[in-house]
Amino acid sequence: MLEVRDLKVSYGQIKALKGVSMRIDRGEFVGVIGANGAGKTSLLMALSGAVRTSGGDVILDGRDVTHLPQHLRVSNGIAIVPEGRQVFGPLTVMENLELGGFHRRGASRAEIVRDQEMMLDLFPILRLRARQLAATLSGGEQQMLAIGRALMSRPRLLLLDEPSFGLAPMVFQEILGTLRRLHAEGLACLMVEQDAHVTLETTSRSYVFQTGQIITEGSSSDLRDAGLGLVEEIYLGSAGKSS
Ligand SMILES: Nc1ncnc2c1ncn2[C@@H]1O[C@H](COP(=O)(O)OP(=O)(O)O)[C@@H](O)[C@H]1O
Ligand SMILES: [Mg+2]
Repeated sequence: MLEVRDLKVSYGQIKALKGVSMRIDRGEFVGVIGANGAGKTSLLMALSGAVRTSGGDVILDGRDVTHLPQHLRVSNGIAIVPEGRQVFGPLTVMENLELGGFHRRGASRAEIVRDQEMMLDLFPILRLRARQLAATLSGGEQQMLAIGRALMSRPRLLLLDEPSFGLAPMVFQEILGTLRRLHAEGLACLMVEQDAHVTLETTSRSYVFQTGQIITEGSSSDLRDAGLGLVEEIYLGSAGKSS
């Protein structure tokens, strides 16, 4: 469904992605793990069209979308749950959801309202908060809202940038349960995480990033079996700190 070839992203002199090639098949749940600064957010921003790429291609269902603006990628089925959730604090839960449906092609008002209801079914706690401002929600509730907002565009591929960040493990497990259900219903997901353990438990295949490059890839169960050695490689790198 998605093919990425030799993708490059730079910020001035800083090369955040140095030529990344990867793929996501239809309905797959794929992980990207890597330390802080490895380029995970830059990858998702490049896939969602939020940053300009300096090289390489992004192919969605055989179509080159490398230079397609962000809102057109949304209507082509790619939605992002951004790092730090970025819900609209001064707007209510319902308003945040409504905005998520903004770039849907040809959706009627009634369809948007029905999908808002679906999101409240998916995350029942949000139903209790429906008229509250997003700024008043807990971190977990905001993450649920960010996912609901992304789903409002009816994506085929959901990009998730560190959804566990700052959440209690139990809260994140609940969110993961919902993501697994969505995946079982056919949604493809690309989840980017510093938490290797959670990612390898959840996904079927993973890519390991280090300083803007893929250093390892494979089935998540194989990577899990690689165990501690891999984790050291990810987080300590070739600099090889001994602590
Ligand atoms: N807006 C930016 N301007 C300059 N450098 C950036 C910017 N965003 C990220 N970087 C740099 O790009 C590299 C990759 O960052 P990022 O993609 O955020 O990694 P990750 O999400 O894995 O932590 C880092 O060296 C980071 O400092
Ligand atoms: Mg990041």
